[in-house]
Amino acid sequence: MAEDQKIIFVGCGNMGGSLIGGLIANGYPVASLFGVEPDGNQRRRVETEFNIQTGAGIAGNITGAAVIVLAVKPQILPAVLAGIRAALKTERPLIVSIAAGIRADTIAKQLDGLCPVVRVMPNTPALVRAGAAALYAAGDVTATQRQLATRIMQAVGVAVWLDDESLLDTVTAVSGSGPAYFFLIIELLGKIAVDMGLDREQARMLTIETALGAARMLKETGMDAATLRQQVTSPGGTTEQAIQVFRDGGLEQLLRRALTACHARSVELAGPVE
Ligand SMILES: NC(=O)c1ccc[n+]([C@@H]2O[C@H](COP(=O)([O-])OP(=O)(O)OC[C@H]3O[C@@H](n4cnc5c(N)ncnc54)[C@H](OP(=O)(O)O)[C@@H]3O)[C@@H](O)[C@H]2O)c1
Repeated sequence: MAEDQKIIFVGCGNMGGSLIGGLIANGYPVASLFGVEPDGNQRRRVETEFNIQTGAGIAGNITGAAVIVLAVKPQILPAVLAGIRAALKTERPLIVSIAAGIRADTIAKQLDGLCPVVRVMPNTPALVRAGAAALYAAGDVTATQRQLATRIMQAVGVAVWLDDESLLDTVTAVSGSGPAYFFLIIELLGKIAVDMGLDREQARMLTIETALGAARMLKETGMDAATLRQQVTSPGGTTEQAIQVFRDGGLEQLLRRALTACHARSVELAGPVE
């Protein structure tokens, strides 16, 4: 794949900045990255941190762009798209949007169908390059453009492709919002550990490392979660007692309700399909 395809980042905040940093760390040429940021201070910070060229707006900077990554808050996306539409001349860059809840078709329509669109649902661990993202290509996205979109998201974690956009609502319920579920569980485990006699720092260290260790075991052994759970759950032992309480308390039903509620809100926020 050509190494010099120009990627423009519109929005260089948390997510945009992470993607830029990840690409550079993976060897993407700095000269092929460009950041659009209206705020002067933020722009200077991006220039200093990444040594990339920046501009206050998209106008005049679109020439030669292979990809425009939209990493702004969803509420300002319409204004950003109007700016891109006005700046498009002969270029037809791939648009990669990570804005939550804005459908690929909505984006394509606001660009008069001139650009192919990939919609992504990332998650916040992308900030530490441990993200999990799902991508959906609308319309005529070429294999090369898919590869480039994959490369952008893999710079900060793993990336999977979906062939049905509605599954992005399921991804939102699983991995998009998922980090918060694990944060909540770790928060509660830590609180209970303190109530049961550990000091805060001990509780924090033990719960975090347990979560990390369990995730690493899954990843590094390739074994499934049920098998690993059974291996640490000896009949008549301590773990079995806890697992039984989770089961009796309806943990599966509770998780099912939580993910269903999250999915419903994701559908609602995206609005009706046009
Ligand atoms: N699924 C998830 O867990 C997840 C996680 C994170 C992000 N996201 C999505 O990722 C997107 C970005 O989130 P973020 O956390 O990176 O937000 P952020 O930190 O606020 O970054 C957005 C950046 O865009 C800049 N900006 C504002 N108006 C602009 C314009 N007209 N042109 C160019 N840049 C502009 C902002 O500058 P100012 O600060 O000066 O306004 C800010 O630096 C959001 O759409 C969000 O939905 C999803």
